[in-house]
Parts: sequence; C-alpha cells; structure tokens
Amino acid sequence: MLILTFPDYLKQAQRLASSLNVPLLEVVLHRFPDGESLIRLPPSLPAHVIICRSLNQPNDKLIELLLCATTARQLGVKRITLIAPYLCYMRQDIANQPGEAVSQRIIGKLLADLFDDVITVDPHLHRISTLNQAIPIKNAISLTAADEIGFFLQKKLVHALLLGPDSESEQWVAAIAEKIGFDYAIAEKQRRGDRLVEISLPNRSFSEMPVVIIDDMASTGRTLAGTVRQLQAAGNKETYAVVTHALFCGDAEAHILQAGVRGLWSTDSIDHPTSCIHLDLLIAKTVLALVR
Ligand code: R5P
Repeated sequence: MLILTFPDYLKQAQRLASSLNVPLLEVVLHRFPDGESLIRLPPSLPAHVIICRSLNQPNDKLIELLLCATTARQLGVKRITLIAPYLCYMRQDIANQPGEAVSQRIIGKLLADLFDDVITVDPHLHRISTLNQAIPIKNAISLTAADEIGFFLQKKLVHALLLGPDSESEQWVAAIAEKIGFDYAIAEKQRRGDRLVEISLPNRSFSEMPVVIIDDMASTGRTLAGTVRQLQAAGNKETYAVVTHALFCGDAEAHILQAGVRGLWSTDSIDHPTSCIHLDLLIAKTVLALVR
C-alpha cells in the first residue's frame, strides 16, 4: 500500500502515513499558465494506492484527480482509495429550477467511476441519508468528526451551550452535544444570497454561559458572523465557533473575527491556521478496517 498526496494536503497526509505506518509520496503537480495541470506519478506503484486530498476549490482538483486515478490504473494499480475529508459538490442535491444540474449525483458518479473506495468526513448530506446514494459504490464511507470535536471542546471549556446556526446543522450539533453531555439549541437561517444570511436565535437566554456555534463548514463566513452578532445582541459575552471544514473563502475569517468571536477552531480536513483538531486517527482506523 502507498499513500499519494498533493502539496495542499501534505501535512495531514504525513500524519496519516505515520499513523498507518505506510509510505507516502507526493504527486508532481504543475499548473500551466493557461490553467491546465500536469500530473506525474511514481512509475512503479503497488496494487493498492490511497490518494489523499480534500476537495475545496474543487474544479481544478477534480480534473487533477481524474488525471491521477486514470494514470494509476494505466500503471497497473488494482485498488484506488480516495480520502477526501472535505467532499465538494454535495450541497446541490435537487434541481431547484428546471434545467439545473444536480451536482451531487454527477460528481458522485464521476468519483464512483474512478475509485474503489471513497472516505470522507461530515459530508453535507441534506435530503439523502447515506453517502452511497450520492456516490454509487459499496465503500462510500462517511465518517463524522463529532468525537474529535467533542473531545476538543471538553478540554477547552468546562461547560457551554452548543448552537447550530440552521436546521441542517442539527445532525452535527446534536451528535457532539450527546457525546459530551452539553446542552444544544438550533437557530434559523434565511439565505438571501451568497453573502447575505439572516439568523434568528431560538427563544431562550444566551447571556449566562459560553456559546459554541457548530457547523459543518464556513465558506463566506456570513453564517458564523451573523450568528455571532445575534448572540452578542442577546447579551452573550463568550462566543466561540468550530467547523469541520475551514473553507474560509476571501475575507471570511476576518469577517467572523470582527463579529467578536473569542475562539475559532476547525479540523484539519483543510489546512488552515484554525485547524487544530486532527483527523488522522479517525481516518487511519477506517483504512485499517477496509484493508483487513
Ligand atoms: C449550509 O447549510 C452549510 O451548513 C453552512 O452553514 C454554509 O455553507 C456556510 O456558508 P457561509 O460561510 O458562506 O455562510
């Protein structure tokens, strides 16, 4: 077995390789001025290769995965496992208007055609319950970072109220709250545009204890920033936020910090200064169970 990774996932892949005691090599990647990518793999590969890369900024990365997996097959690899802790294109699971692409199913089919196994963490599944409804292969494995986030919060805070910013976040917030015995509440969100959200807090007191906002991802940061502002208006003095996937596009992080959050944390599904919750042990356990 060999792990192949890309420069943007190197640190996390090194941790995973050392947890699994498996060799790691970096794919040679060159982006040409016109936007095309050149991929070069080691010419001699074992029968089972694990490709690790989170799929934030997905369009280039998906093409590079296509080049990588197809070349690996041509070099004789029999089994290719994709570890993509952040899985892109999972949110568009229906056509909201006639003619709209249902990206979840299209990208899911592409990944199913390329890989024997796909492992991801807290994918944004809304109207489906299992990952293989999106990626039609037997080993489409969806892990959750609930334990890792829960243990981290227990070390940081004696007690806190966990708050999900919208109904979709309840699946993650409830799981973490149950694991660590903290109370939780769920706000309501109206999205008016890519960078415009309105948050309404549930009717309860937020002034008596620390509040940790929990979401699967922060993209523009408007959901987290809006929730922080509402909490401050409700008298909360100690607001924190934790996300599984730190996409943090453009000014997202600055926007959230300016809103007055006291601590902002994420898992290392995407490398970012806030990524202090490591996922290598969670992923390593799953890989070991797969190859046993
Ligand atoms: C959507 O429902 C997700 O769970 C996140 O709440 C959303 O993607 C966050 O986006 P943004 O950071 O752009 O508000």
